[in-house]
Amino acid sequence: MATEHQLLSTAVHETMPGKYVRPVSQRPRLTEVVPDARIPVVDLASPDRAAVVSAIGDACRTHGFFQVKNHGIDSTLLTAVMAVARDFFRLPAEEKAKLYSDDPARKIRLSTSFNVRKETVHNWRDYLRLHCYPLDQFVPDWPSNPASFKEIMSTYCMEVRELGFRLYAAISESLGLDDGYIKKTLGEQEQHMAVNFYPQCPEPELTYGLPAHTDPNALTILLMDDQVAGLQVLNGGKWIAVNPQPGALVINIGDQLQALSNGKYRSVWHRAVVNSDRERMSVASFLCPCNSVELGPAAKLVTEESPAVYRNYTYDEYYKKFWSRNLDQEHCLELFRT
Ligand code: OGA
Ligand code: NI
Repeated sequence: MATEHQLLSTAVHETMPGKYVRPVSQRPRLTEVVPDARIPVVDLASPDRAAVVSAIGDACRTHGFFQVKNHGIDSTLLTAVMAVARDFFRLPAEEKAKLYSDDPARKIRLSTSFNVRKETVHNWRDYLRLHCYPLDQFVPDWPSNPASFKEIMSTYCMEVRELGFRLYAAISESLGLDDGYIKKTLGEQEQHMAVNFYPQCPEPELTYGLPAHTDPNALTILLMDDQVAGLQVLNGGKWIAVNPQPGALVINIGDQLQALSNGKYRSVWHRAVVNSDRERMSVASFLCPCNSVELGPAAKLVTEESPAVYRNYTYDEYYKKFWSRNLDQEHCLELFRT
């Protein structure tokens, strides 16, 4: 049984325990990563709406990832979110122990690695996982230390949700659907947040912050450390590094939009690697379909030439399946093919 003593952020690590060491065939091979690759950047303030929609559609097809700038979320808020997140992980061990849990069903929990109860090799990450919608239902149980945590994070959550809905409209249009299609189809959506903390690691070549995975939700909005790189995306068989761009947010298509688009848009493999000289942080916001609505390819995208690639299912079913597996197995959507 794991306990809060497994949290990495409570100690300095001179050596790496064996339970974090990947077998040789599964290591990140950092020298083979394409260092200066760029994922598409979309300027959301561009007056040319059609160009924005088409750039987003292209990015969803080719990379499954893009960055957005001029997204409407103030840079001072982004800075405050990162700062309060960092302060949280700097709290003393006793304070963090109160929030520790390794039960994925818990709606507020501080944990480590990915799924410590299931996995055989651990990941070099601590994370705070929060449910964020409806806010008034969850915020009372969020950390009250640091004192500004609740206010800063709840403001950010509201703004991220709005941004996500604007992106849904553009993504819907880019698929030739009504601009309200995705928002409407996914129903009264949940929103989750993972505040990720990747401590300095003595042996980055031997482990991961997060091993290769796809996101099980619909859309992910990632606020990255603007000083320290670590996110890598699989593209054309190669891992490419997503270098931070100050003020930008990283957007990726999750499994549910791959299914809804009938496989046109891709929920791609990505991973986080760690650094020996610096810690890294990220704040991932996940927009998730309503648990009970029926998901699957949009009717308009299923034709004789492109029959349905996935069967219909509920998010409840999908999410349970996702958490019952290891993170780096086959794509979870493969289990939902027609
Ligand atoms: C995630 C994720 C990447 C990162 O939390 O799902 O992919 O750079 N994070 O922290
Ligand atoms: Ni992810």
